[in-house]
This record gives sequence, structure tokens and C-alpha cells, in this order.
Amino acid sequence: MQILITGIAGFVGTNLARRFLEQGYVVYGLDNFCRGQRANLQAFDGHDRFNLYEVDLHDLEAYRNVVGRIFQSASIDEVWHLAANSDIPAGIADPNVDLRDTYLTTHNTLILMREFGIARLAFASSSAIYGDHGETAIIEDIGPLLPISNYGAMKLASEASISAAAESYLKQAYIFRFPNVIGTPATHGVILDFVRKLKTSPDDLPVLGDGSQQKSYLHVEDLIDAMLFVRDHANDKLSYFNVGPVDDGVSVRTIAETVRDQLAPDATISYGTEGRGWVGDVPRFYYDTSKLNRLGWKPTMDSRSAVELAVSEIIKQESLA
Ligand SMILES: NC(=O)c1ccc[n+]([C@@H]2O[C@H](COP(=O)([O-])OP(=O)(O)OC[C@H]3O[C@@H](n4cnc5c(N)ncnc54)[C@H](O)[C@@H]3O)[C@@H](O)[C@H]2O)c1
Repeated sequence: MQILITGIAGFVGTNLARRFLEQGYVVYGLDNFCRGQRANLQAFDGHDRFNLYEVDLHDLEAYRNVVGRIFQSASIDEVWHLAANSDIPAGIADPNVDLRDTYLTTHNTLILMREFGIARLAFASSSAIYGDHGETAIIEDIGPLLPISNYGAMKLASEASISAAAESYLKQAYIFRFPNVIGTPATHGVILDFVRKLKTSPDDLPVLGDGSQQKSYLHVEDLIDAMLFVRDHANDKLSYFNVGPVDDGVSVRTIAETVRDQLAPDATISYGTEGRGWVGDVPRFYYDTSKLNRLGWKPTMDSRSAVELAVSEIIKQESLA
């Protein structure tokens, strides 16, 4: 199998590449390194089944050139499209960021899959497509879908384009709606933020919001297991799944306390007053993953144990352990 991974230098891409290489696949990785880092891929340098290309995927001509070069001597069976803006506040400040890095990278990927006859697509979507449903458990078919961030809006638009492509020229498409995914190499997210804040000032941990925000957290190893399981077991032409742990999530307060306890037990945690961390933040969501569980997949960790593991991994990453 020959796999093309977009956004390969990012957090999920790095882990997915390792898994595919371990399984004997040939991996073609694309990234413009705007958020992911080359250093994340150092372990694969010189690997005979690993090929890395620097390209901005919103530039269709540049993207076409790279895929054309790959097709001169090989072909691609599957695209795993992970490239996107992963910084929600950046997309609130400037909506062009999500248009460019999330929607246009998807649009261009679809154009090239059609041109080069690549049949199967796996897409990293997000719980952000759902918007704020309060205390209601979020199943895949809940509606209306009214995202509250440009990030969520452009993920939803990407899903819509993939759906249309599946009707016309894709053989199979898998849409994975991730919750908060954690682990290393962390490039963003609440745990990395807390660890870095305590690294800079070990006495005080300021938290955005009042700490009551409650969400699901999935370890990246479980995420990859789930995606590969779906890829191997779902038969629909277009599959879409919530991916997540089987619990109601953990609060930001719990995460702040876990980071403090592992890194700086004497630090004071100071909370804000708002019930949400920033504009576009869904303060709590209850993620129903029973569709995925019915297909036969269950995670190995709940949100709390995933957070505990990821906190220790990220402390190590930041050279603090
Ligand atoms: N990590 C999470 O908690 C989470 C949650 C929901 C959805 N997702 C989705 O999963 C995917 C991977 O997330 P991640 O956490 O690894 O994010 P990440 O930021 O670490 O990785 C994304 C990668 O895409 C690259 N990229 C962005 N724009 C690009 C462009 N125009 N051209 C080429 N490369 C570009 C970045 O450089 C980066 O390496 C993303 O699509 C993200 O939206 C992640």
C-alpha cells in the first residue's frame, strides 16, 4: 500500500506515519511546516519507504507538481488528509487562515485525487463541526450543524465537499470527527499550554476560563487504532464517525491540577471568570461514540488516564522530566 499523508509533520501526522511505516506501507508525506516541524520526522530520515515533500497545499499548481512527481515512479492508494489550521483562535482573528489551510487544502486534495485517479480518502474532521449543543449528547446525525468557529465551519465545508466527491469519483471516504487528541509530539493544546506556562513561571498557572469547561480527550495511539479499525471494517462509500473515549470527559480544572501535580506541586492555579476559554471554544460537549463502538472498536484509555499519560509525555517532550 502506498499512502499519502498531508500535514505529516504535525502531531497526528507524525504518529500516523510511524504506524504506517511499522506496517510496511510506503509513505509519501506533505507539509509546508507552518505548524508542524521537520524535527518531528527525524526518526524516519533515511527510511527507504519514507518520502517527504515540502509544499503549500493551498497552492494547487505546487501541489499538482508534487503529486505528479510521485506518480512518475509510483502511485497512491489512499490519501490521509490531515493538513489544516489547528489553531482555533488564529482562525477567529483571521478567517483566511481556515479558508486557506483547512478548506482549500481539502478542495485541492479532491481536485488532485480526481485528476490522478486516487480512490480512497481519510479525513481528519473535528467535533467543532457540531457547534454548541450544551448538555445534549452529540451523535453523528444531530442537527442543525452550526459551528461557532471558522475552524469548525471550514471542517464542515470540507466534509460537504468530500460527500459530493464520494457521490461522483471517490471510491471510498472516511470522515473522522476527532475530539481533543493528546500525546506527543504536542504542537498545540491545553496541556502543552499549561506545561509551557509553568516552565516560564513555576509559581503560578493562569487558566483561560473558570476551569469548568468539560471535554473528551483521546490519546493519539487510540485515535490511530480507531481510524485504522474503521478503514478496515466500515463498508459504506462514505463513513463518518465520532472518535473518542467512552466517558463524559474531564474538566479543565482536572487538567490544570494534573499538570501542576506532576510539574510544580506548589504552584497556585488562578482561574478566569468566564465559562469558556476563548471565543469559538465549545465549553462542554458530551460526545456519543456508540456508532464506532457498535462497529467493534473501543479505546484502551478513558479521558482521565489519557490526560495523565499525555501530561507526563509532554513534560518529557519539553525537557522538564
Ligand atoms: N489534535 C487535535 O486535538 C485535533 C482535534 C480535532 C481535529 N484535528 C485535526 O487533525 C488534523 C491533525 O491535527 P494536528 O493536531 O496534528 O495538527 P498540527 O497543527 O500538529 O498538524 C497539521 C499539519 O498541517 C500542516 N499544514 C497546515 N496548513 C498547511 C498547508 N497549507 N500546506 C501544507 N501543510 C499544512 C502544518 O504545518 C502541520 O504540520 C488537523 O486536520 C486537525 O484539524 C486535530
